[in-house]
Amino acid sequence: MTRPQLGACYFPEHWDSSDWRSDAEMMRDLGLDFVRIGEFAWGVIEPEPGQINLDWMQQSLDLLYEHGIKVVLCTPTATPPKWLVDSMPDMLATGRDGRPRTFGSRRHYSFSHQGYRRECARITTEIARRFGTHPAVIGWQTDNEYGCHDTTISFSQTDLLAFRDWLAQRYQSVDALNRAWGNTFWSMQYASFDEVELPNLTVTEANPSHWMDYRRFASDMVVEFNRLQVDILRRLSPGRDITHNFMGRILDFDHFDVGAQVDISSWDSYPLGFLDQERDLHDQAHRLAFARAGDPDFQGFHHDLYRATSGGRWWVIEQQPGPVNWAPNNIAPRKGMIGLWALEAFAHGAEAVSYFRWRQAPFAQEQMHAGLLRPDRSPAEAFFEAGDVAEAIRSIDWPQASCGQVAIIMDYEAAWAWSIQPQGEDFDYFRLLFETYRSLRKFGVSVDFISPDQAGSRLDEYALCVMPGLFSCSPELAHAMAQTKTPILLGPRSASKTGEFQIPASLAPDLPDAIRPLTVTHVESLVTGLDVPIEGRSGSFVHWREFTSPHADADVLWQTADGLPALVRRDNLTYQCGWADPALMSDILRSACCDAGIQTFDLGDGVRMRRAGDHAFIINYAGTDFDLALLGDVHIVVGGPAVPPSGFAIVRL
Ligand code: GAL
Repeated sequence: MTRPQLGACYFPEHWDSSDWRSDAEMMRDLGLDFVRIGEFAWGVIEPEPGQINLDWMQQSLDLLYEHGIKVVLCTPTATPPKWLVDSMPDMLATGRDGRPRTFGSRRHYSFSHQGYRRECARITTEIARRFGTHPAVIGWQTDNEYGCHDTTISFSQTDLLAFRDWLAQRYQSVDALNRAWGNTFWSMQYASFDEVELPNLTVTEANPSHWMDYRRFASDMVVEFNRLQVDILRRLSPGRDITHNFMGRILDFDHFDVGAQVDISSWDSYPLGFLDQERDLHDQAHRLAFARAGDPDFQGFHHDLYRATSGGRWWVIEQQPGPVNWAPNNIAPRKGMIGLWALEAFAHGAEAVSYFRWRQAPFAQEQMHAGLLRPDRSPAEAFFEAGDVAEAIRSIDWPQASCGQVAIIMDYEAAWAWSIQPQGEDFDYFRLLFETYRSLRKFGVSVDFISPDQAGSRLDEYALCVMPGLFSCSPELAHAMAQTKTPILLGPRSASKTGEFQIPASLAPDLPDAIRPLTVTHVESLVTGLDVPIEGRSGSFVHWREFTSPHADADVLWQTADGLPALVRRDNLTYQCGWADPALMSDILRSACCDAGIQTFDLGDGVRMRRAGDHAFIINYAGTDFDLALLGDVHIVVGGPAVPPSGFAIVRL
């Protein structure tokens, strides 16, 4: 693999220009390859309508280039300036409560607003025309973190009009829409597309089909918005890579669709912030044990997910450098973790990691957010760890990343569907996937994510495929499932709806009769404590359980303690009739791996492995040494026989 690149997010406009030269010198001496600049600078670039001021950026780019630092330039469209908002106030995004969101932070726009899109195209063109072929510029980032601060879905009049157009294109006739949504129920029929309302302020819940289309529409608006900028950048900055920075656990738009437009998916990784924030994923003991290291799977999950969205090329464009400012509590990392997070990303195939941010700002919203430098320009802890990473990437011969052993299907529509209709307070799609992923990783299994569309052609690449909670099964996917020999673990809730968000005519799962292992006759959600134990096994179904009637050709592998099918197999399809707690999940996946010939290890809670061909990277989030001899007879390529806390090793298996 070519040497990974190391960078930092840099905001020259925040500092006196007399600092810029020595910034560039320090970056070079630290071993940084690139910086990302410009993503919130619209107010500096265009302080008044039409007055374009890019000379400061020119000076900064020239200086960086002179010092051998490459640049990823951003479009500044996440922060439209005040004069622009005032010139078209209806561009503001509107919250679910129907109130417009206001100026004074960021992301205050609606994706569907045509006037704002034109402004974004204009400013993107200005910047790309000036710097598109600057020798320092190696790439572009569009906007910043689509979806952050709950901004994908907006409920303004502009959005409503755009939604009606979107529906008219999708359904062609309003009768088709009424049928798809089942609008005879509660007399919800519309006589024309112009009568359709937004789903946010209804008296009680709106029709789930209505919501589902609104979620699809909102996702499509993000995709259209992004495409506009990508098209301009391709034209004016040929040969440069384009990226967008995705986030942790944001599911509001289909990242596969945006990923298909860019060259490189990137994401913003804040392990300690996420651990404290995503409380439903971790119990208190786990949060304490990993408080200074981060959850051992949350980063890997997103590395593996976003790698899939843009065909394999991906970066971490923002990496946590120390305490952040936005989590409920902002903890300082254990020594070594700031460096280890970057090495872990490279182990999962990242081409680049960049720390957020070069220098801590003493002003405004993020003044409590660490950087590589403190506000007074003295080096912070992260500066030294970034230096260690710079050294490691030059001294290590990085094995080429390779395909994982198990594929998990990631279905953004399922995330929308089960949040619209959880049918039980604990049914959370992300959590379902995350628990599956964590369970596999504790065995040292390397996991890839694929979309339902990709699955049609890629199932055969994997020894095992897991498909929990899929929303609706397309004919192409059903065909691929029928053709492949790869074992597939389905359920709970997989293929339980039609694309219109209705119960399938022959009940769930909506699969051709020739392959369907069972029929789900009815389901229940389970309150905490009302677990359904599995006969002869240590774990239980929790949160969700399905009552089923197995197909005559299927085998009931496991039963619940009350004598009903729990795991049912027909040929290569196995259906899991409930949400498995961690013990049961581990049991099911261990036996699925064993049947599929996948080697498993016992890595425990804090050590993780990612394979690269016949090599494997070992990453230690735990607070104790990990003895590599536990992996059997391995040849150590990088590191010693005991991997210390925050340590890293490469072995040949
Ligand atoms: C990211 C964002 C950055 C900065 C950072 C702070 O979500 O892209 O601009 O706000 O968080 O951790």
